[in-house]
Amino acid sequence: MKLLVKLFILSLCAVGKRCSNTQAGDWPPVHISLFYESLCPDCRAFVVQELCPVWMKMKEVLNITLIPFGNAEIIQGAQGVQYWCQHGEEECLGNMIQSCMIHHLKNTSSYLPVICCMESAHTVVATAQQCLQDHAPALTWETISDCVYGELGSRLVQVNARLTAGLEPPHRYVPWILINGVHSEDIQHHAETDLLDLVCQTYTGSLPAVCGQRIYVSEIQA
Ligand SMILES: *[C@@H]1O[C@H](CO)[C@@H](O)[C@H](O)[C@H]1NC(C)=O
Ligand SMILES: *[C@@H]1O[C@H](CO)[C@@H](O)[C@H](O)[C@H]1NC(C)=O
Repeated sequence: MKLLVKLFILSLCAVGKRCSNTQAGDWPPVHISLFYESLCPDCRAFVVQELCPVWMKMKEVLNITLIPFGNAEIIQGAQGVQYWCQHGEEECLGNMIQSCMIHHLKNTSSYLPVICCMESAHTVVATAQQCLQDHAPALTWETISDCVYGELGSRLVQVNARLTAGLEPPHRYVPWILINGVHSEDIQHHAETDLLDLVCQTYTGSLPAVCGQRIYVSEIQA
């Protein structure tokens, strides 16, 4: 039904009629879920080269969920709960800082620029405070630091651990990307090579201008 309406709108546009009652954001957004860890090179490449630029271009059609945990593990040891990360303690800290930023800033428009800034910096963790100050100055570093070194931080990590462990199918590598809740090798490859094109193909509303004049094969076949 949605597709029929959309094709109708496209055909109206095609014959030069106005499309005044439609605009990007008129259908449910494309949901991108990213399971990642703060220091993995492929995660950083995806965030910096695909996710952040695509967000800047078409945020009105996106709903992004970031889960910084990835291949980390929570180990229940003699000294209590221990948190192990693939790229060392610094990565655990990076994941924790980002979990706290996401928790406190809530809105993707607020936290994604901070995380994009961190992931594109030479040293992710050392730049965190500056990135926060530059992109979300209303949130103090003290609030983040209280979260990281307090109970809230460990609770957030445990939530992210559970979300990661609950993936179906289970993740086999990071970054692990879901579009509208679905992971496949095709989706993963498409997202990592041309996320903008994937979002344009997936979005069921009238296409934002950045999608260009392309009429997608998937729409026609449907
Ligand atoms: C984005 O997805 C989350 C989780 O499914 C949902 O709670 C939220 O309402 C969505 N936001 C928008 C703007 O669609
Ligand atoms: C998120 O922030 C943007 C930009 O400030 C704003 O337009 C939007 O309404 C906010 N969304 C929510 C759910 O608060």
